Formats: sequence, C-alpha cells, structure tokens
Amino acid sequence: MGLRRQPRGNPGAYSRARVSFYVTTPIYYVNGEPHLGHAYSTIAADILARHHRQRGEEVFFLTGTDEFGEPVAQQAEREGVTPRELGDRLAPRFKEMAAKVNASNDFFIRTTDEGHQRRVQEVVQRVYDNGHVYEGTYEGWYCPRCADFKTESEIVDGNLCPIHKIELTREKQDNWFFRLSAFQEDLERLYADRPEFVTPDFRRNEALAFIRQGLRDVSLSRPTLKWGVPVPWDPEQVIYVWFDALLNYYTALSYARDGEDLTGRFWPAFHILAKDILKFHAVYWPAFLLAAGLEPPKRMFIHGYLLMEGHKMSKSLGNVLDPDEVIAKFGADALRYYCFREVSFGQDGQISPAGFEARYETELANEYGNLANRTLSMLERYRAGVVPEAEPEPELVEAFDGAQGAVRSLLDEAELTQALERIWALVRRLNQYVEKTRPWDLAKAGDEGRLDRVLYGLAEGLRVTSLLLHAYMPEATGKLLDALGEDSRELSEFGAHPGGRTVGGLDPLFPKLD
Ligand code: MSP
Repeated sequence: MGLRRQPRGNPGAYSRARVSFYVTTPIYYVNGEPHLGHAYSTIAADILARHHRQRGEEVFFLTGTDEFGEPVAQQAEREGVTPRELGDRLAPRFKEMAAKVNASNDFFIRTTDEGHQRRVQEVVQRVYDNGHVYEGTYEGWYCPRCADFKTESEIVDGNLCPIHKIELTREKQDNWFFRLSAFQEDLERLYADRPEFVTPDFRRNEALAFIRQGLRDVSLSRPTLKWGVPVPWDPEQVIYVWFDALLNYYTALSYARDGEDLTGRFWPAFHILAKDILKFHAVYWPAFLLAAGLEPPKRMFIHGYLLMEGHKMSKSLGNVLDPDEVIAKFGADALRYYCFREVSFGQDGQISPAGFEARYETELANEYGNLANRTLSMLERYRAGVVPEAEPEPELVEAFDGAQGAVRSLLDEAELTQALERIWALVRRLNQYVEKTRPWDLAKAGDEGRLDRVLYGLAEGLRVTSLLLHAYMPEATGKLLDALGEDSRELSEFGAHPGGRTVGGLDPLFPKLD
C-alpha cells in the first residue's frame, strides 16, 4: 500500500496507489429492536469510514444483521413466528437505524443472503479439506443468548450466564469440531508480530491470556438446530452460528457489488466491536481464517459498554434508550458527538439524558454553534461577506500546527475520544482567540489591517476544524462548510485556503432545546 514503484523503464518515478480501508461493525442479532448500544458501534465505524474517505482513501464500510442460530430461533419461538419472519421484520429496523444515525455503510449484509451462505459453505469446506475438522462429542453448560458454552470459572450465581444472567442449560452433542487447539502457536506468533492486532492494550492482554491458558477445540456445527447454514459434507447439521456470523466480514466483499468481487481490494478488515464478543473475534476468528488459508484481520478495536444507571444497556435488562427518541430530541449529529465525547472510547461509561442536554448546550450550541454564527456575521458585517485576503496571526498558525497529523494518528488507532478532544481543543482555541482579539473593537478603532488578519484566521480555523469534525458530525459541519464556501470535504491544513471567498448565512447549527 502507499507508494508503489513504477515498472522499470521509468526509473525514480512513483505513483500513488489508492490506499484502501475496510471497516466493519458486529452484525446484530435480529432478536429485538435496535437500541443505542448497537447504534454506538455503528457510529464508531462510520466515523472511521468517513474520516478515511476524507483522506482520499478507497473505503468499504460494512454493517448488517446476524439472523441464524439459537438467539434468533428461540426469540422467534417465544413470539410464535418463524425465525425468517422475525428476521424479515427486524433486519429492516437495523437498516433504518443505520440510516438514522447517518451511517454511510456501503452495504448491509444479512446472513440469510444467498451469497453469504454460499461463500460460508465454501470457506468451511476449505477448513475441512485442510484437515482442521473432526467429529466428536461435547458436553458443557450452554447459554442460548450468547450461543456459547461457558467454562466452570465463568458461571456466576450458581448456574447463571455472566452476561445475560439467565439459567445455563446442560448440553451434550455429537457434532463437528474445529481444531482450534492446533492454532495456539500461530495465534501467539500473530500477537507477537503485530502488537496492534487487538487494541486497546488491556483487551489485547485479555485475549492473549485466554490463548496462553491453552485452547480447547470448539464446536463447528449444531446437530439439533435447523435454523442455520447446512454443513456442506453433512447437511443434517447446521454450521455453528458464530462461524457463519464471523464469516460475514469476508463473504460480503464477494457479492456486495454485482459482477465484482471486492475481496482483493479490501480484505483484510478493521473490526469494531464491544468486549462481550472479544473471544470470538480475537481468538476464534483469526484461527479460522488461518485454517482456511486466508489472511487474518488487519486489526480490531474493542470498545466498552454504554451504561444506563450503572448497567449495560441491553434488551434482556430492559434499560435501553431508543435511538429514534434521542435523535428526535437532539439530532443525529449531537448523538454521534455526545457518545464519543462523554464516554472514553474503549472504556465503559455512563450516559444519561441530562448528560446529553448539558453537552448539547455548552459545547455544541455555545462553543461550536455560536463560534460559527459569530464568525459568519462578523464577516458579513465588517467585510460584506467576503473572507479577507490576509496573513493569519502566528499564534493561530501555531495552534493549528500539527493538529491534522495528530488527529490522523489517533484515528489510525481508532482512538475516537482522544481525536475528538484534540479537535475540540481547536474549537476552544478559536473561541479564546475571538475573546482576546475582540474584532468588534478592532472595527471600531478602524484597525482594518489587523481585523483582516483576525477574520481570515477565524474563517480558516473554522474551516479546518469543521473538516476534522466532519466525520463525527456530517450534517452540521456540512452546512457550515457550505456557508464558508468550502465545497471539498478533504482534510486540509490551516492556511491552505486563500481569502476571497464569499460566505453565506447560517441558521443556528444546534438550536435551543424545547
Ligand atoms: N450477532 C453477534 C455478533 C456477531 S459479529 C460477527 C452479537 N450481536 S448483538 O446484537 O448482541 O450485538 C452485540 C454488539 O452490539 C456488541 O459487541 C456491541 O458492538 C453492541 N452493543 C450492544 N449493546 C451495547 C452497549 N450497551 N454498549 C456498547 N455496545 C453495545 O453479539
């Protein structure tokens, strides 16, 4: 990637091959309505997708729904419908949720897609052909919501799932096994060679500890369940939902575009997920890909939980915030902003309606929104709506120096909160600059030269900051950039734009809440 050498005969010449970036969210179970927890992962991946597009990269962003397996089959049974009916009802809800939070996903996968199932069978067959599958018996404690066996040490309060707090069931089954144990060394080497493979570091250590304690083989199929992708060499059984689900990241590229296989262009992926599904992604998934002779993921970022009154937001706990309600009140931009500002991405963190309101008013409406309106109206009033052609003052040049590079590096690490902090420091810096330079006094005093420099600096600072913020809040920043006469959304350095542009008017970006 990056710079590619030209063929011989053109010595010393380089051409820039377009860098590609592939980002995914977990695919969500269609066993309940989408809630803010799901929206959170989708927004996180979307911010990365949008940011990389702003760098001029070729981006593919995937999200979707996980429709097979016990979690869905059991919910369907409870509701007295077929699992397919349940999926057909709920998958569109998840699709709508993505659209409402302004996710710019390039495809929405449903694991019931024919293209997915076909490709899953091909890959699983390859793992079988490579000798990593055998027939055996498994007995253990099973959580149907997790679709996962629990070890004795994980079980809590007698016989409860540590995540869902529901009774575990004793399951004994003859089925096909994936020889996960054979990949212990490969995984340890992968982790040693690529320290960035799983981040944050404490999650990497957790995954590595799990690997080092010794890996047991895992079920690859379910003999009793009918709702799944048939095992190609034993169609009486279905593929264990986790393998079918994980493979979505790989299969989607093969059929998302008619007549085009995008795998070569985009594989491997950068995965975004929460800590509840760390083991599947950080241990099973790379091992399974290696077993199939495929390249393991590029990297993955494991985020924490959004908590409501101290508890994970989840359908089974019944404490969910409906994204529709939050968006109706605050708008999608504010939701996108708040989640990554309030909760340090990677950690668990509390969110609350009162918290939303406070940040909406102080940061979005006052610090950013007012700065925007003030700057535009001063340009209107003092310079007839034209950005002056002038040199910015050194203190502002300095404040912006290195900012873009810092934000890029942080977002390379998916450090969404730290990057946002860095950007917000620029917003605050610009506000301080207005307070300090008092352009209205300069106008009164007739200090036209300095007023030009100050107004140019403010317009330019707002432009560059809004471009950096654009991935987080596409709507509001888009309106402001339009008003500033900036058509491009590519990231840009302070000072790159000369003056001379005509600016437009702007309604308040974050109007007062009712
Ligand atoms: N279907 C599996 C994932 C398969 S991926 C190959 C699954 N689905 S899920 O519907 O339970 O979604 C779990 C994911 O939703 C979490 O990993 C996280 O990304 C997101 N979240 C659900 N609730 C959340 C919070 N309260 N807070 C943060 N993220 C949350 O597991």
